[in-house]
Amino acid sequence: VRPGALSGRHVIVTSGPTHEPIDPVRYIANRSSGAQGAAIAAALRDLGARVSFVTGPAEVPPPEGVEVIRVQTARQMRDAVESALPADAAVMAAAVADWRIRNSSARKLKKDGTGKPPSLEMTENPDILAWISQPDARRPRLVVGFAAETNDVVAHATDKRLRKGCDWIVANDVSEGTAIMGGTENAVTVITEEGAEDWPRMAKDAVARKLAQKIADALG
Ligand code: C5P
Repeated sequence: VRPGALSGRHVIVTSGPTHEPIDPVRYIANRSSGAQGAAIAAALRDLGARVSFVTGPAEVPPPEGVEVIRVQTARQMRDAVESALPADAAVMAAAVADWRIRNSSARKLKKDGTGKPPSLEMTENPDILAWISQPDARRPRLVVGFAAETNDVVAHATDKRLRKGCDWIVANDVSEGTAIMGGTENAVTVITEEGAEDWPRMAKDAVARKLAQKIADALG
């Protein structure tokens, strides 16, 4: 590792789940721990980058030495990413909720005695990765997205890279039996314009360091 390979560079990292409110006391969430995102932020910091770490309510604490911006919802995450621009690179490791509740309530929902449950309508959240990948003046030079797949990993991730407009997709196989989700190790395939690179199974920290080094090499 060349220390300082990213000094003078600004990198935005998103991490963790988002929480989408139903009412003031209830929300929809997912099981993302934020482990891989936190490890990536720490690895970028170790190479000298200034890191804006935009995190949902994760289990894993944020690393030291990065600027932590805490958010709850996907829309807050999008706004925080926008406020952190400009950046040389963006790594979108968050597990952003695809939907939020359209008719979320400012008051706690109550049983009304009829036995009829409330009906929740969903609406789509902004896709932060697709949005930041749009080719305009503020687009970071390098945008990295993630993909958790259970089958045909390379085909789906290659398709996702084109659909989202990002430069790289870090894809992992989260099918049953891999023990990757919630585990300490990861086995990823990195999809770039040049094709697919299979990385051997290694600790999430080691994946983070290898990815940070690859980002440093790409930014030159
Ligand atoms: O297809 P999918 O949405 O699962 O792709 C995952 C990638 O997109 C991840 O990098 C994730 O952080 C990003 N994403 C996002 N905003 C969303 C949904 C996904 O940035 N609303």
